[in-house]
Amino acid sequence: MEAQRRKVAQQILTAARAHDERQADRHARFRNVEPQTAELLGVLIRATGARRILELGGSNGYSTIWLADAAQATGGAVLSVEIDAERTALAAANLALAGVAAELRTQDAAQALADSADGFWDFVFLDAERPAYAGYWPALLRSLRPAGGLLAIDNVLSNAAEVAAIGELIAAEPSVTSVLVPVGAGLSLVVRDAHSRSQ
Ligand SMILES: C[S@@+](CC[C@H](N)C(=O)[O-])C[C@H]1O[C@@H](n2cnc3c(N)ncnc32)[C@H](O)[C@@H]1O
Repeated sequence: MEAQRRKVAQQILTAARAHDERQADRHARFRNVEPQTAELLGVLIRATGARRILELGGSNGYSTIWLADAAQATGGAVLSVEIDAERTALAAANLALAGVAAELRTQDAAQALADSADGFWDFVFLDAERPAYAGYWPALLRSLRPAGGLLAIDNVLSNAAEVAAIGELIAAEPSVTSVLVPVGAGLSLVVRDAHSRSQ
């Protein structure tokens, strides 16, 4: 990410963290990803050449800026969905400040996944409400591209109990390989293999 865009992203994060500190209700917080995690997502997208990128839980657009910046490098595009319309509008303003483009939709993550074609996504960043994740798993697996489609799930160390159910589903799934990266709040990376090892 070039210096000016990085500076804008940092300003957005700083303002969001100040906002979050004033909120007693966690749902009122923007809860942006740690910057090292955002940076890693950008590297992974570049390294894998991911072009079809989905974000579930866009909030104010901080992580979306990093995804969209990486998509610019790969010639790809980002769809970011967020359930709160005010946040979608704020994300649009923040992306404009950073000078990057993404498709921003006010939509339930479950609906975005239901609308996704089989094997469509090269890269999915899952950062919404954790208790729902296990329910997303069948659609996540179905819509990830075989042979290299990558899913990244944040907060697997900071909120381990809440992601335990999807963790068990991933561990039991023979057609994926996964690793926990201790960066930021803990990032689980799950790659879809070429063929199911159970076949
Ligand atoms: C942890 S924040 C996302 C932070 C963002 N990825 C970032 O790092 O800048 C989670 C967001 O998911 C949104 N959300 C919660 N449930 C959702 C759902 N079912 N579908 C889409 N978005 C949802 C919340 O409104 C909140 O803004």
